[in-house]
Amino acid sequence: MLKILDKTFVPFITAEEIKKEVSSLAKNLNEEYTGKDVIFIAILNGAFMFASDLFKEITLPSTISFIKVSSYQGMNSTGRVDEIIGLTANIKNKHVIIIEDIVDTGITIEKVKTLLTSDKPASIEVCTFLFKPDAFQEKEIPKFIGFSIPNKFVVGYGLDYDELGRNLGEIYQLKEGSDPEKNMLNIVLFGPPGAGKGTQAERLIEKYGLLHLSTGDIFRYNIKNNTELGQLAQSYMSKGHLVPDEVTIKMLRAEVMKHSDSKGFIFDGFPRTNAQAAALDELLTSMDSTINIMLALEVETEELKIRLIKRVEVSGRVDDADPEIIANRLKVYKNETEPVKAYYQEQNKFIGINGLGTIDDITKLLFQAIDSL
Ligand code: IMP
Ligand code: MG
Repeated sequence: MLKILDKTFVPFITAEEIKKEVSSLAKNLNEEYTGKDVIFIAILNGAFMFASDLFKEITLPSTISFIKVSSYQGMNSTGRVDEIIGLTANIKNKHVIIIEDIVDTGITIEKVKTLLTSDKPASIEVCTFLFKPDAFQEKEIPKFIGFSIPNKFVVGYGLDYDELGRNLGEIYQLKEGSDPEKNMLNIVLFGPPGAGKGTQAERLIEKYGLLHLSTGDIFRYNIKNNTELGQLAQSYMSKGHLVPDEVTIKMLRAEVMKHSDSKGFIFDGFPRTNAQAAALDELLTSMDSTINIMLALEVETEELKIRLIKRVEVSGRVDDADPEIIANRLKVYKNETEPVKAYYQEQNKFIGINGLGTIDDITKLLFQAIDSL
């Protein structure tokens, strides 16, 4: 959590992620512009930090100029652009790469492009570290983009809130509705395979308006969309290895950040280790929030075996079909996952729920437990 003047911000993009993305952009530019006469034009003030980091990794023989335009005050883009100040370099017949920290409505960058075009450069492209697709109003999307981000105000890494926050090495996002009356409700839904987590999660979502975060779903989403994290995860999974905590946590973090204004979360299948539980605490603390309760569905092993074998008809999951695999999953749960209970018990954030009975009975018990918080 970070306070600047009257606003609260939460961590959004880490210094490490920034560094990686800057390198990848520089690599693209170095390849794309090989053999061309290039001039970089960075837009002050915001782009100073990004321009500096990026330019260090540019291997093309090129020059850089800094210009200034003013279009932004406080938190709302006014769309007002004054003239360009400070351009002394001759850009005629050169390939211009405009370096921006952020493109929001795109009005600034469009006007800069128009102004520069009158000096007859060979080409003009935009390289922006951040891009807000939902705020963008122009036609031509920047060619080189670091991160596409939601339409929320961000600070750090050169970006300011009323001139403050530019010095931060990471990027923070405005925390909206940081009203203490509106605390999140965060639940860890816990239990062995076959305990009924998925079924009950659906009912909790409906009643409390929570967001369901299942690590299984998050992995599948990232792999399907071929994100960097998805590729990393798959490199472990395809070898039959467990995805390391660090990767899982990163994925979950990105997902939580995307929905940081949600009423709360149901974590399902996560945390599976104490290290993950500690990382989750850290993440939620940074958002000025916390886990309220672990609700653990408790079901006898023999009953679970019967349920999983029955479930195969509906789920079609191969890991539900084979008694030996089932036994192994239950063993892994006992040995590796169950100890996470103690983590929450120590914090007095644990309620065991008898998972035997009708689905409705169990839902009732869960509602009672939550309403008693
Ligand atoms: P645009 O003309 O709407 O694309 O906005 C351009 C300028 O608005 C940027 O160069 C920034 O100075 C400022 N800006 C837009 N969004 C943000 C933000 O989230 N944080 C800080 N500054 C922003
Ligand atoms: Mg700017």
